[in-house]
Amino acid sequence: MDDSPYFRPAALDDILMDAAELGFTLSCEDRTGSLLATLAASKPGGHLAELGTGVGAGAAWLLHGMRPDAHLISAETDTVRQAIAAKHLGHDPRVAFETVDADTWLDTYSGPPLALAYVDCRPGKFHRLDDLLDLLEPGGLYVVDDLLPQPTWPSDHQPRVAGFLAQLPARANLVGAVVTWASGLFVGVRT
Ligand SMILES: C[S@@+](CC[C@H](N)C(=O)[O-])C[C@H]1O[C@@H](n2cnc3c(N)ncnc32)[C@H](O)[C@@H]1O
Repeated sequence: MDDSPYFRPAALDDILMDAAELGFTLSCEDRTGSLLATLAASKPGGHLAELGTGVGAGAAWLLHGMRPDAHLISAETDTVRQAIAAKHLGHDPRVAFETVDADTWLDTYSGPPLALAYVDCRPGKFHRLDDLLDLLEPGGLYVVDDLLPQPTWPSDHQPRVAGFLAQLPARANLVGAVVTWASGLFVGVRT
């Protein structure tokens, strides 16, 4: 079985070229992206969020799947990285790139309940998961990646991931699956 994606966002290759030029190696991998697109397609009219834009690879996949009436907010602290995302994807009226710390974003988001959150930085994943889940609508999807050891991890990161995985079963408002595929995923649903 070839599990490589059979579709690809139009802007992705240009985004990845800019990422290489910048030396940015943290973009989501293609298989993860294809899952993001698939899940995004299941949320017509939905309000989606990505915490940690990077250079926009994840956003490109999400937008590829999103229906015309869906919306995406993508939050990032690094202006140089996010500028690349905005250069390639900013023309799309469905996406808003916000230069903001995810902690602040969690404190201040006042929009509609989220249909999907792809959390790719520490707030909303390794801490403040409760606050993130509170923003999801019932049935809202919670997606994280990079749960299998990555060459880019700092030396103290494994215990953080182990702690994240260990506390999932105790959560009363989240049903999900830990998936040993791509970079290691958790796909959950807010109940
Ligand atoms: C793994 S990369 C994101 C990759 C992107 N989501 C993708 O799928 O291609 C993580 C990003 O989160 C950003 N970041 C780290 N801490 C953050 C925070 N507290 N708030 C917002 N962004 C943060 C980093 O600057 C980095 O660009």
